[in-house]
Amino acid sequence: MAKSFDVVVIGAGPGGYIAAIRAAQLGLSVACIDEWKTADGKPAPGGTCTNVGCIPSKALLQSSENYEHVAHSYAEHGIRVKDLSLDLAQMLKRKDKVVRQNNDGILYLFKKNKITFFHGRGGFSGAGANAYEITVAGKAEETVTAKHVVVATGSNPRALPGAGFDNKLILDNEGALAIPEVPKQLGVIGAGVIGLEMGSVWRRLGSEVRILEALPAFLGVADGQVAKEAAKVFAKQGLAIELGVKITKVTAKKNVVVEYSDAGGAAQSATFDKLIVAIGRVPNTNGLNAAAVGLQLDDRGFVTVDHECRTNLPNVWAIGDVVRGPMLAHKAEEEGVAVAQRIVGRYGHVDFNTVPWVIYTSPEIAWVGKTEQELKAAGVEYKSGSFPFMANGRARALGDTTGFAKIIADARSDRILGVHVIGPMASELISEAVVAMEFGASAEDIALICHAHPSLAEAMKEAALAVDNRTLNF
Ligand code: FAD
Ligand code: NAI
Repeated sequence: MAKSFDVVVIGAGPGGYIAAIRAAQLGLSVACIDEWKTADGKPAPGGTCTNVGCIPSKALLQSSENYEHVAHSYAEHGIRVKDLSLDLAQMLKRKDKVVRQNNDGILYLFKKNKITFFHGRGGFSGAGANAYEITVAGKAEETVTAKHVVVATGSNPRALPGAGFDNKLILDNEGALAIPEVPKQLGVIGAGVIGLEMGSVWRRLGSEVRILEALPAFLGVADGQVAKEAAKVFAKQGLAIELGVKITKVTAKKNVVVEYSDAGGAAQSATFDKLIVAIGRVPNTNGLNAAAVGLQLDDRGFVTVDHECRTNLPNVWAIGDVVRGPMLAHKAEEEGVAVAQRIVGRYGHVDFNTVPWVIYTSPEIAWVGKTEQELKAAGVEYKSGSFPFMANGRARALGDTTGFAKIIADARSDRILGVHVIGPMASELISEAVVAMEFGASAEDIALICHAHPSLAEAMKEAALAVDNRTLNF
């Protein structure tokens, strides 16, 4: 007989595994199905984020930054290193170990929370009066039934038309995280988050990196002032970014030849040892067999949901990258918790206005809330204040003074509308802004709070003071 559960979660990425844990904490019987496997066929829960996304990219960003520091900035600290060399195989091995620790951590959490884990592909195979039937195709095939189903099947990389991924010459995110030798000439299509992070990794390790971007403006999702500063810093680091290009042809044989027209419309050609294509991601509903139960997808393939992650089917929910909204791990997690709460009739909360963004380049770029250009377009009156890390004592001690913190507040009420940081540890600093915005804080509230000295966070306080034109240290 089919095993039955209160909740079956399909997908064990950050959305799915967190939804499963919260549902189990709330006293429900829970199963989670995930098909990801290691090279030797073992379960590898954690989804894109753990296996080929957030975690391995940050591991390589850290290792490559360490390497660059030893090569270029340790001497200034009076530390001389002779015979520096790169052991890329070891760097990749460490990255794989970090991934495996996270896989194992999730398997442990499943056990601890008494969640039944199925390794295989889960797809709808029928619907009864009060339950859905899901078939798991793993080593063997088995069927489970569920009162509630949470679809958390994530996303896949988008390929360039006519230039599919082979992960030898034309690489998606998975291939970009596992290049066995540092390519001399590395091409990247797309100057978005992956393009900038992976471009940074391989540039630090010695590649000549050229990024080709379709849009005429750089990093249009970020605040204009931040994007301008980032473009300046990346150019200085040696990341060559060409904007406004149109890719016309990609040929991969011994190497990769990219033909494109530049911003002026002139035909260009570039030859690379490897090409990373990072032009966004598409929702993944492969194998879900959505049609079997009439689960509605929109015209771009996302599972259609309302603001509470309810699909068109009763008791079927969808969360994370497979639904609308930013493709971020923490957004998927928040939706997972909120859905579990709603299943048991409790309140579920996701505030899309305060989802932070971080790009883990050096300097890091992080923001929450509105950009200046968004506020201008919406006709909102605002004031803004910034503070450069150059004037922050801790940043000077660190030897990392690039960038600034910037706070935008409503012109009348002083309520914080957006916070933008480019600089050291921006990923950590942004949390203060998220908390402040969640509590409806004004810029003055941050200005009145005592911040430890010397700390990078003092730049946040000074930016808040700058909103009222009264910085103390600049
Ligand atoms: P996923 O993590 O994609 O997980 C979905 C899971 O479902 C997968 O394990 C998949 O195998 C499984 N699955 C799919 N279909 C089925 C099926 N039918 N049956 C069984 N299992 C199935 N976000 C951040 O917030 N911070 C970052 O630093 C960050 N870095 C990133 C770096 C890279 C290179 C990439 C590619 C992405 C990064 N992201 C980052 C985005 C983040 O990885 C995603 O937003 C997040 O993983 C989405 O979580 P999810 O649970 O919706 O889906
Ligand atoms: P992206 O949307 O960030 O960037 C894609 C870029 O490619 C855009 O600038 C777009 O204009 C450009 N582009 C699209 N088609 C093109 C074409 N034909 N030729 C040239 N350029 C083209 O997508 P990316 O970098 O693939 O990342 C996918 C998602 O993964 C991100 O949007 C983000 O949600 C998530 N992610 C998050 C990270 C983080 O939080 N630090 C890190 C990496 C990924």
